[in-house]
Amino acid sequence: MSPETLRAQILAWYDANARDLPWRVGPKARAAGVRADPYRVWLSEVMLQQTTVPHAIPYFLKFTARWPTVADLAREDDGEVMAAWAGLGYYARARNLLACARAVARDHGGVFPDTEEALRALPGLGAYTAAAVAAIAFDAPANVVDGNVERVTARLFAVEAPLPDAKPELKRLAAALVRDERPGDWAQALMDLGATVCRPKAPLCGRCPIAGHCAGLATGAPETYPRKTAKAERPHRHGVAYVLTRGDAVALVRRPPKGLLGGMLALPTSDWRAGRWSEAEALAAAPAQLQTGAAWRAVGEVEHGFTHFTLTLQLYRAEGEASGVIWTPRAGLDALPSVFLKAARAGLSNLL
Ligand code: ADE
Repeated sequence: MSPETLRAQILAWYDANARDLPWRVGPKARAAGVRADPYRVWLSEVMLQQTTVPHAIPYFLKFTARWPTVADLAREDDGEVMAAWAGLGYYARARNLLACARAVARDHGGVFPDTEEALRALPGLGAYTAAAVAAIAFDAPANVVDGNVERVTARLFAVEAPLPDAKPELKRLAAALVRDERPGDWAQALMDLGATVCRPKAPLCGRCPIAGHCAGLATGAPETYPRKTAKAERPHRHGVAYVLTRGDAVALVRRPPKGLLGGMLALPTSDWRAGRWSEAEALAAAPAQLQTGAAWRAVGEVEHGFTHFTLTLQLYRAEGEASGVIWTPRAGLDALPSVFLKAARAGLSNLL
């Protein structure tokens, strides 16, 4: 079947099934001439590289209520933005977000540039985000290929090469379907199709507008696409986190600016290493400002998955004094990255 027919079927499906998302101008409004706000498109795309649509929505609403324009965000203090980002993970992205907002405010008068190339030149704005903003906010015929689009394309054409090597081929196949007509709707149609029908584990092929043309479905096992090279197992690391309380307050520290969770608030921890910690090791490994003779007791552990490794934090709790820490009331713990929020909640839980 022709690419034009395929496109028409997918766009008609989108017209009837587009998700209602807070950053989105739906197909009806778009056809009536409404344009998406580039700031909101950019912000949503940065968040969505990090997490799923349902998890991103409350963050998106919080950010846009607090900072309605890119100039508002650009003026904000780093610490406030990092705290608002807490829970989304990968904090280098929040730093890049601010660097980009400030460049738009400073070098572009607070107006996002409208070409893929000029967007790509902004700090921290990668090829994917430039394509997505160009297509969705400016209706430029950019080739927007995220994980959803890769999956749809790999199944439609039954691409046998495994990811990540297959990426250039998938990009070429996707590019062949991009046209000057409705580029923003096209990109979002493929994303919605991938997220709601052509789902990773259990595709709903009965609801797919192009099932009759899907080479992956014709093999009888569409869910096995895209092929993947066998993954090396994620390494496992172990650390100790210290939950020191003084009444309602918890002792936090700020992590060094570089590296994992750089610059974020954190529970004090030991180093993270390959093996578990005995109680004697755990007590000896506490940071110097916590070596005040407090009566530490083991209160369980939590596990957290990072992109490149899994971390088990063994938890120790005590009530006591310390200097050089940031005493934070329990109600303020939401500014912690997920791994430490999880550890603090478990460590403070009265069940232990
Ligand atoms: N995933 C990434 N970007 C998206 C968008 N604009 N709409 C829906 N899902 C997405």
